Amino acid sequence: MPLPRPSGSGASRRTFVAAAGASGLAALLAACGGSGSGGKGSSGSGAGGHGTPLGSTADIPEGGGKIFTDAKVVVTQPAKGEFKAFTSVCTHAGCQVAGVSGGTINCACHGSKFSIEDGSVKHAPATSPLEEFELKITGDTIKLA
Ligand code: FES
Repeated sequence: MPLPRPSGSGASRRTFVAAAGASGLAALLAACGGSGSGGKGSSGSGAGGHGTPLGSTADIPEGGGKIFTDAKVVVTQPAKGEFKAFTSVCTHAGCQVAGVSGGTINCACHGSKFSIEDGSVKHAPATSPLEEFELKITGDTIKLA
């Protein structure tokens, strides 16, 4: 059964639709915000899980480093007894770095090199440093903090 149309309702009807649309959008955004976050409390999964033992300090050569491919972490020992950890994902285009030699962490994809001391770029094409991670060393076990 069609509703009778009041005359001259064009403008007011359009206004009503616009208002309904805006409030509907607001409700939708509120719903998304409410359910989108909250999560499942899942931390520690995925690459570089914190607290997961990476290896032994004996695995890390002085003046060099070792790549932990699964954890996507490279651990270096720039000076005796001083250990650093960086992401092993190159900041240029996302390859995993391939090796540590000559005082740098080296990416084989396009030749970028990063300092084993602070992850800074030593050779282009990368322009951003490798992100550094906190390490926790217990005895000779290296973990991400
Ligand atoms: S992805 Fe490492 S140099 Fe391009």
